[in-house]
Amino acid sequence: MKKYEIAIVGVTGAVGLQVFKWLIDLKFPFSNIYGYASKKSVGRNIHYKKYSLTVKELKENSFKGIDICFFCSNEMVSKKYVPYALKEKCLVIDNSSYFRMFDDVPIIIPSVNKEQYHKDLHLIANPNCATSILCSVLKPLSDLYPIDKVIVSTYQSISGLGLKAIEELKYQSIATLEGKHELANKNHFESLNDKLKYKIAFNCLPIVGTMLENNWTSEEIKIIKETKKILNQDFKIIANCIRVPTFCCHGETVVVEFKENIDVDNIIKYLKKQKELKLNNKILPVNSNCFNRLEVFVSRIRKVDDKTLTFYLLSDNLLKGAATNAIDIAFLAIGA
Ligand SMILES: NC(=O)c1ccc[n+]([C@@H]2O[C@H](COP(=O)([O-])OP(=O)(O)OC[C@H]3O[C@@H](n4cnc5c(N)ncnc54)[C@H](OP(=O)(O)O)[C@@H]3O)[C@@H](O)[C@H]2O)c1
Repeated sequence: MKKYEIAIVGVTGAVGLQVFKWLIDLKFPFSNIYGYASKKSVGRNIHYKKYSLTVKELKENSFKGIDICFFCSNEMVSKKYVPYALKEKCLVIDNSSYFRMFDDVPIIIPSVNKEQYHKDLHLIANPNCATSILCSVLKPLSDLYPIDKVIVSTYQSISGLGLKAIEELKYQSIATLEGKHELANKNHFESLNDKLKYKIAFNCLPIVGTMLENNWTSEEIKIIKETKKILNQDFKIIANCIRVPTFCCHGETVVVEFKENIDVDNIIKYLKKQKELKLNNKILPVNSNCFNRLEVFVSRIRKVDDKTLTFYLLSDNLLKGAATNAIDIAFLAIGA
């Protein structure tokens, strides 16, 4: 079997570290994995099992000889460096949102819309983490009954904002519990000030992403637009996104109105057949038992009226919502 030269841009971050780990655990056929980050991380060693890499500074010529590159950095890094990777005919799988709404760039979740992949593609976008979790369930539901309207409310953990934000929640929580309120009320890491404008410890924040002029947030608009693009369907969708003080996994309560009467037993039977989904009403999915798991957990499925269903979703945002979906795209691309 062919082995691939792999690069991870942003290998020191929350998503990049998981891509490194899961390429190994999922036995992706690689010959080498090279890791890139900003100047300040150069020389850092990253180990997992018998594998290790030394972080290099990302440069315009970092992509020579690379077959597949996972971009796990911010939008500006993708905007600047993806074109250099494409020039080297590298397959780029981008975790940032920069290219997601470009007409010629599909957003792919292999279990949902692999038909949008074709072998001439060199740039594929990985979806927003909350979108990925939602679409994994909306797709099988829409196989059964046409969807009229979706209302989703998210409970998004702090790891969605990256590694520094995880440390920030720890820091603020300890400071609060020790009664050091002055310290707890401002970000310890000033570099987070743009992304995290309110105290996160012990608070739920009614803002994920940036607030737009119309009072929607950028995260809500991403979920709405990306879901329609991935599913290639045009139902109404309303998203409310809340940041909660948990470390990992995003929860979502979802209400789906269908165009036809539904049979809930039939829905449950069909959802149970989906490899990516885990249904369990006896042991309810909570962040601590879904962390580091690859599935999307579906629980509390119940009927609202003849045409309306509601349920709760939970999944590891760094895996299904980012790293392992990106690796699934790479598996799809190599035909494995
Ligand atoms: N976290 C999630 O749940 C999630 C889910 C889906 C998608 N995403 C997206 O995935 C991307 C990565 O998110 P994350 O949560 O992993 O963020 P993160 O923990 O903050 O990591 C960011 C990474 O980017 C690197 N980086 C920053 N500036 C750079 C530069 N100028 N050149 C090269 N590398 C640079 C950082 O390197 P240094 O360590 O050297 O600074 C670090 O490795 C983002 O676009 C995010 O929106 C995240």
